[in-house]
Amino acid sequence: MSKTIECNIFLIGFMGAGKSTIARNLQRKLNFPLVEMDERIVREQGMSINDIFEKYGEDHFRDIESDLILAIGREGASIVSCGGGVVVRPQNVENMKKTGKIVFLKATPETIYERVKNSTDRPILNGHMNVEYIAQLMEKRRALYESAADITIETDGKTKEEICDEITDRLEE
Ligand code: S3P
Repeated sequence: MSKTIECNIFLIGFMGAGKSTIARNLQRKLNFPLVEMDERIVREQGMSINDIFEKYGEDHFRDIESDLILAIGREGASIVSCGGGVVVRPQNVENMKKTGKIVFLKATPETIYERVKNSTDRPILNGHMNVEYIAQLMEKRRALYESAADITIETDGKTKEEICDEITDRLEE
């Protein structure tokens, strides 16, 4: 028998893996509130992600991100599109697991590159916008994404609808 989904659904994965797009589609499908972490950070801090990195450094950004994970845990069940680096702090993974399920959206470095190549609002990739750098950073983070994930979804070659159906089917198992 299938279960109703009642907890947070945290979408994790590399920049450009499709977290925001899939989160918006899941929101419509499940009628849950949506939290887009980067957007909320920009709104609450009143500055862009690039400016936060530039003025205060990555560690400060990671502190804001960790505080937001805790805040989301105190709110009602939502679909959460996480920043791609949320897994670099083990405490974030622990805190996400306390209130929800973690879904890892996986894509190849080539697919990621095609999606992010014209973007200038990702400080981690500014000045390193190429497949080799993406592949290297992805490899460094691979074990973190994999060990955090309750569910892993291969996204290459699938439509948004197929990905959303796979997520909800597996969450309801
Ligand atoms: C980051 C990913 C970004 C954003 C920040 C750092 C990362 O989010 O949080 O630029 O370290 O992977 P997206 O994955 O939504 O691009």
